[in-house]
Amino acid sequence: MAEVSLQGVHKLFGSVTAVEDFNLSIGSSEFVVFVGPSGCGKSTTLRMLAGLEDVSSGVISIDGKPVNNVHPKDRDIAMVFQNYALYPHLNVFDNISFGLRAKRLPKDEITTRTNEAADILGLDELLKRRPGELSGGQKQRVAMGRAIVRKPKVFLFDEPLSNLDAKLRHKMRAEMKLLHQRVQTTTVYVTHDQVEAMTLADRIVIMNLGRIEQVGTPDEVYKHPASQFVASFIGSPAMNFATGTITGTGSKAALKTDSGEGISLAGCDIAEGRRIQLGFRPEHMMLAKAAKPASGHISIGAHITVIEPMGHETVLTCDAGFGEIVGKYEGEDRFTPGDAANFHIRADRLHYFDLDTGLRI
Ligand SMILES: Nc1ncnc2c1ncn2[C@@H]1O[C@H](COP(=O)(O)OP(=O)(O)OP(=O)(O)O)[C@@H](O)[C@H]1O
Ligand SMILES: [Mg+2]
Repeated sequence: MAEVSLQGVHKLFGSVTAVEDFNLSIGSSEFVVFVGPSGCGKSTTLRMLAGLEDVSSGVISIDGKPVNNVHPKDRDIAMVFQNYALYPHLNVFDNISFGLRAKRLPKDEITTRTNEAADILGLDELLKRRPGELSGGQKQRVAMGRAIVRKPKVFLFDEPLSNLDAKLRHKMRAEMKLLHQRVQTTTVYVTHDQVEAMTLADRIVIMNLGRIEQVGTPDEVYKHPASQFVASFIGSPAMNFATGTITGTGSKAALKTDSGEGISLAGCDIAEGRRIQLGFRPEHMMLAKAAKPASGHISIGAHITVIEPMGHETVLTCDAGFGEIVGKYEGEDRFTPGDAANFHIRADRLHYFDLDTGLRI
């Protein structure tokens, strides 16, 4: 368990800036997830933490001590990669204990620690097998075992579940959470999957083009996304947006979309004439019979184009004129493509972003 801090960290590869002015303090035992699209600098930041990549400028500290010049093997960090990098000719026991043997720890201690890790990960029965005789999820657990057994100050994970199928990913996600509850090791976890980020993290760091867009708890980034980028990245199906100009004030306030629709935003206090993006989540759109919304709600009319029954809920893709929007409701399909639909949304569930800066208003 350790505190980790990155202050003013930059990384350049030649003329390419991979990471820019990265500032983050991670608390002891915290589980922090870096999430963002491909190429946004997640792995590079993790590799700088591990010491596998030099920093171009800035300071990385572990427990208050700068480690910029500390060799990776002396940082007391264990890293798990997407490709588990197991030794194919060694059995599970020898794979897990490899690092301990390299450190020439006493044999008894190696056996105790390895059995302990195998117990935590449910690998007891598999210790004699080689990687070729294991499933993807079991291999992943061996890779985790190799990290746990070292009892490092910090765990770093780079997309550790992305080679697994959806069902196994879900299972391993729960195991990852359980593992952290048991060992409480400070963890930095990289993924491009926002569901993994939301479900695992104490705090999420959303990155875009080498920079941090927002740091917050899953609840904060979902309810109060700091930018349109964060809003569009967190949540599934993704948030819907309408682009336009604010007209009128007070009870007459409205959004005139760029394609000409008027959406009443009664009570909205954004200055008339300001160019914005209005955001609303599929799960906050309520199907309504009447176009006119109750007080404290707005109304959006659309035509259904695609219906996706999921059993417990139905997802509707619709043409709202200003663009495609996705809504959903609990229950079975009762529509036909082409049907008109009215959605009402509580005004306090709307999100407003400045069109130029992308920042939350
Ligand atoms: N060794 C390198 N030399 C040059 N450019 C690099 C190098 N490593 C990474 N980059 C560049 O730095 C940027 C960030 O890469 P990085 O691997 O950190 O992204 P990522 O967020 O982990 O993406 P992914 O989700 O695809 O793994 C990218 O533009 C990438 O092309
Ligand atoms: Mg990566």
